[in-house]
Amino acid sequence: MTKLRLFYLLLFLWCMSTAVHSQTYQPTEENLKSRQEFRDAKFGIFLHWGLYAMLATGEWTMTNNDLNYKEYAKLAGGFYPSRFDAAQWVSAIKASGARYICFTSRHHEGFSMFHTRYSDYNIVDATPFKRDILKELADECHKQGIRLHLYYSHIDWYREDAVWGRTGRGTGRPHPEGNWESYYQFMNNQLTELLTNYGEIGAIWFDGWWDQDQNPDFDWQLPEQYALIHRLQPACLIGNNHHQVPFEGEDIQIFERDLPGENKAGLSGQDISALPLETCETMNGMWGYKITDQNYKSTRELIHYLVKAAGKDANLLMNIGPQPDGALPEVALSRLAEIGKWLQTYGETIYGTRGGCIAPHPWGVTTQKGNKLYVHILNLQDKALFLPLENRKVKAAFSFPEKRPLKFQKSPIGITLYLNQVPTDIDTVVELELD
Ligand code: GLC
Repeated sequence: MTKLRLFYLLLFLWCMSTAVHSQTYQPTEENLKSRQEFRDAKFGIFLHWGLYAMLATGEWTMTNNDLNYKEYAKLAGGFYPSRFDAAQWVSAIKASGARYICFTSRHHEGFSMFHTRYSDYNIVDATPFKRDILKELADECHKQGIRLHLYYSHIDWYREDAVWGRTGRGTGRPHPEGNWESYYQFMNNQLTELLTNYGEIGAIWFDGWWDQDQNPDFDWQLPEQYALIHRLQPACLIGNNHHQVPFEGEDIQIFERDLPGENKAGLSGQDISALPLETCETMNGMWGYKITDQNYKSTRELIHYLVKAAGKDANLLMNIGPQPDGALPEVALSRLAEIGKWLQTYGETIYGTRGGCIAPHPWGVTTQKGNKLYVHILNLQDKALFLPLENRKVKAAFSFPEKRPLKFQKSPIGITLYLNQVPTDIDTVVELELD
């Protein structure tokens, strides 16, 4: 080959490679539809379950107490959640009005709650239970018609090939440098299993990117991993709990323990993107089962959180940590039932809505569907409420769900609503018909 030909060949190859790299992610039709459905769903239940449930001190115990990885793994030999019944879980969750379940397929502890070919450290091969919990859950979700999302940890405190980050340093593994290629391949193999063997998966929910935040050069190789997921199931949404604005290839934006735009827990200062939003929160104070934590939020608080999320155009992913015996904690079950009862009446003002045209206020929030604006009054010590509605005309106001007409007075900058009494309900909803 002449020098000139070689030059053109190299130039061509270089152009091709930059073209590939600069290609921006184009979500497919199915993916866009799935985003829309996700946005309409508004309420999901998060389930954090793994070997850590047996130690009953939350899912971070392994690293918090520097438990040796080989000793920790022995928990598997005693894991026999005799009360696990996927049908019961799914029925209770469905009855709460939740429209999807997000299950921890593998948390930071590294134990797979599904039957994987790529490690024996899994629910079927390493426990006397020998049942593929994820399979049972997935089958039941599909049967009862509720979407299944899968949490997947980028961190692994058990595997020797997982590269150490800032956590899991005291679990006794020998090589801090790990073997990235091997671990990356392992994750992609598992993701392929998850997206091939369990039917339709609504979303993959990544967590742990932040483990390398002190190592800015670390490359998680997310674009290829995301592309793999979208190739296997184009409608599967990708979210990553990295506490940053969404990266290329992601379909939803996740917030942890704070509503979008708020940052009380210190994990959620990031800007709000145009992607569908979801915020996750615990029902008590811990994600994984914690025996001493009976500090459950009241039904009122939980409903307020759901309504406020909807008012900010976000879904609420509410967590429960199943017990080591496989049952959901009783308090959690009663909260689910009560939220379900509330949603039976008020669901119309939540599902399928978007954040309303009046921004959240200390008194509450608004949600909107077409020309209907739902005013959710959560906290008001008055019978009158001023609503700033400069650009929209109000045709009528009704109490919800009774649909009794309410009085209101117009002014150039909005309306003043007159309620029949100072509101005391969990959520006093007023339906406004807009022009
Ligand atoms: C955090 C924790 C993790 C939990 C997750 C849920 O990132 O590391 O234990 O699963 O939040 O949002």
